Amino acid sequence: SRHESDVQTANGASIKAEENDLCNWDGLGFSLTPTDYMYLMKCSKGESAFSQGHLTPYGNIELSPSSGVLNYGQGLLEGLKASRGDDNRIRLFRPEQNALRMQMGAKRMCMPSPTTEQFVGSIKQTALANKRWIPPPGKGSLYIRPLLLGTGPILGVAPSPEYTFLAYASPVGNYFKGPLNFAVEDNVYRAIPGGTGGIKSITNYSPNYKAISRAKAKGFTDVLFLDGATGKNIEEGTACNIFVVKGNTISTPPTKGTILPGITRKSIIEIASWLGYQIEERAIPLEELINADEAFCTGTAITVKPVGSVTYQGQRVEYKTAEGTVSEKLYRTLTGIQTGRIEDNMGWIVEI
Ligand code: COI
Repeated sequence: SRHESDVQTANGASIKAEENDLCNWDGLGFSLTPTDYMYLMKCSKGESAFSQGHLTPYGNIELSPSSGVLNYGQGLLEGLKASRGDDNRIRLFRPEQNALRMQMGAKRMCMPSPTTEQFVGSIKQTALANKRWIPPPGKGSLYIRPLLLGTGPILGVAPSPEYTFLAYASPVGNYFKGPLNFAVEDNVYRAIPGGTGGIKSITNYSPNYKAISRAKAKGFTDVLFLDGATGKNIEEGTACNIFVVKGNTISTPPTKGTILPGITRKSIIEIASWLGYQIEERAIPLEELINADEAFCTGTAITVKPVGSVTYQGQRVEYKTAEGTVSEKLYRTLTGIQTGRIEDNMGWIVEI
């Protein structure tokens, strides 16, 4: 059948037909397809560490109406992917980086966090338990979404007395289909110095829905935020970091508290410097983006995506997005490493 031939791999291995018939692998976007299992782990009242967690069937969780997360948004999210290579092996990309970022965010949000070992172990178990949901090579990946939530009851404005870590998974395709057409947002700000823009707080996203829906209604893909302190420098999209290319130089805003320290961002900086580009992490005035040769965004969910256009106060600039762009070269290298087509010399891959 078409499906079976789709997943015949280079070394002759194939994914079982029934696994391949689970869902329409060709139609994957970034939407939820519930999978079989999730991972749960608790840090109970009076304890400072998480006790051993376990896999459980994917499903609803019970929450106290007065839980910290429901009342005051005390929560963090993470995102990482498991990919199936042409060799049929399953690879996680830098999961310990997500563990470290969750630990950093947990400090800011006054929460205990899983150790790196607990975190990575939970991700491996979640990916393996849902292995049949990992798309065939080239069709997408299994997106794993860890959460750290204040689940104990609390009425006053204070840290929750109890915490839950959980990780669930969904097969996904890319977050966006084509190039990004940005509307520059000059009314809503994503982050301010001293705020939570530099961590993956769950509270960083829904305040942007109004700006996103306004932009989408006008046909844009996403909004590009400016810095909340001066309104002059570019910061990031709603779920991705941004890079600007001028000649041989690639620039991106620095992670000094208002920019999300993306793992794809960090990896692209390293890949670009091996490829011989000059990298600059610094404040980037909007005019520089307007005058750039090329621009692109990075994120776990979007990988590396070219920016097709940027519109600011009615003025639209367009960028090249076709073959031969810097972003395409970076995309190929990154996804090559993630899927095993390019050798991982950096120890970025955790094979499971
Ligand atoms: C990711 O790229 O994994 C993100 O966290 C973006 C997400 C909010 C969709």
